Amino acid sequence: PSDPPMVFHWFPFIGSTVIYGMDPPKFFRENRAKYGDVFTFVLLGKKTTVAVGPAGNDFILNGKLKDVNAEEIYSVLTTPVFGRDVVYDCPNAKLMEQKKFMKIALTTEAFKTYVPIISHEVTSYYKRDSAFKGKSGIVDIPKKMAEITIFTASHALQGSLIRSKFDESLADLYHDLDMGFTSINFVLHWAPLPWNRKRDHAQRTVAKIYIDTIKERRALGDADKELDILKHLMKSEYKDGTPVPDHEIAHMMIALLMAGQHSSSSTSSWIMLHLAQYPQVVEDLYKEQIKVLGADLPPLQYEDLAKLPLHQAIVKETLRINAPIHSIMRKVKQPMPVPGTKYVIPTSHVLLSAPGVSGSDPAYFPNPEKWDPYRWLPGSPNAPLMVRSEEEEEKVDYGYGIVSKGAASPYLPFGAGRHRCIGEHFANLQLQTIIAETVRLFKLSNVDGSNNIVGTDYASLFSRPLEPAKIRWERRD
Ligand code: HEM
Repeated sequence: PSDPPMVFHWFPFIGSTVIYGMDPPKFFRENRAKYGDVFTFVLLGKKTTVAVGPAGNDFILNGKLKDVNAEEIYSVLTTPVFGRDVVYDCPNAKLMEQKKFMKIALTTEAFKTYVPIISHEVTSYYKRDSAFKGKSGIVDIPKKMAEITIFTASHALQGSLIRSKFDESLADLYHDLDMGFTSINFVLHWAPLPWNRKRDHAQRTVAKIYIDTIKERRALGDADKELDILKHLMKSEYKDGTPVPDHEIAHMMIALLMAGQHSSSSTSSWIMLHLAQYPQVVEDLYKEQIKVLGADLPPLQYEDLAKLPLHQAIVKETLRINAPIHSIMRKVKQPMPVPGTKYVIPTSHVLLSAPGVSGSDPAYFPNPEKWDPYRWLPGSPNAPLMVRSEEEEEKVDYGYGIVSKGAASPYLPFGAGRHRCIGEHFANLQLQTIIAETVRLFKLSNVDGSNNIVGTDYASLFSRPLEPAKIRWERRD
């Protein structure tokens, strides 16, 4: 047995931190070419072993609880932001129960109520926002998509009471909470710095808003008709019969909004930027709606989304190229032999999974660098190879419901295993609705008419388009 090869570096502690941080996907690609699918680099003094490709994804993401641990890595960042006793500030078994509670609100029945809510938020945003006044204009799209994401997600998932607070106090407080997620806080999370003081104040204030809302809604009793997550959490009990305490509900609500906000907001921005790259695709989307839903384009319903394959393909393809989570980390708890190799990963290492590497590998995606949503539709020469459909996937139950194992899959933008995303279906619904409503109203293009697109900003834990990222919109007649 031996250690995996080590990426060459000049300085101890710093190791490859800077070069990794500038462009993680490039770093993975280049070192994979040099060292193979499994290699180690030094990240802030920690030996970090990367395992890429479908087998590497499976090795880390479906690692056993006795072998790999997420909370020991993530907790320093997430606990001050979310609050105590939830997600990574509790044993994994408790997180599995909490994921089950949070997932219960993400049912088809609830989704049917979410689509009209999201449609309404999107269209009224475009109506009132000053950047969309007139017949055409130029807009810095990530700022707008961040707002649309928070309005749609908070209204659908958290109810109208919480949504109304986003017009005033909550937006700024969430911004302060966000500052806790800068990568530098992996080292400085404890420090009494201005941004950490703001983070702690915001956490207490936001938690109190949720706790007060819980009390208000309890007082409403049967008059409270909303089918959102808050309501479900208020009714949930742990296996031992304890109802979920109010402070845990509040902290889970913060966690849910934070988890969804960054990834969905970044993805919707990338979607609009790719559509502006290829204005013809916007017209194809518009035509798809006319063909399937009728020329009068009636109000969008949940059932319509499944009938719009190009809309679905836009989300899939954007997440293939621009997955917002480029690095998934685990602490190694037992020496772990890597199947099919002579390597054993010691407990002093951290494991890093980067499913984006196989997502951009020509072995699975012909012409991988091309954003080509049509590759997900039948008959495309760029069709994905060896990506299994939902039905073909092996299923597992880690305690939060039956999910696809995603074992050995080259395409895993939502992760796999016990920490897999529970927000996938909600994110798809939200993003497809935003696309559908946007192309009903606007044509999009690049300001200079080119096919260019901005680069990626990797400074925060979630990658996103570099700003400013301006595109041109033109109202349909
Ligand atoms: C976990 C991606 C939207 C809630 C994850 C993970 C990924 C991911 C890769 C696994 C992290 C790990 O293994 O360490 C995404 C993407 C999204 C998205 C690409 C949108 C495009 C959402 C939304 C919600 C959400 C909308 C909430 C409604 C969660 C939760 C976890 C998770 C609760 C579980 C964390 C754990 O078990 O450790 N997501 N997500 N996500 N996501 Fe998402």
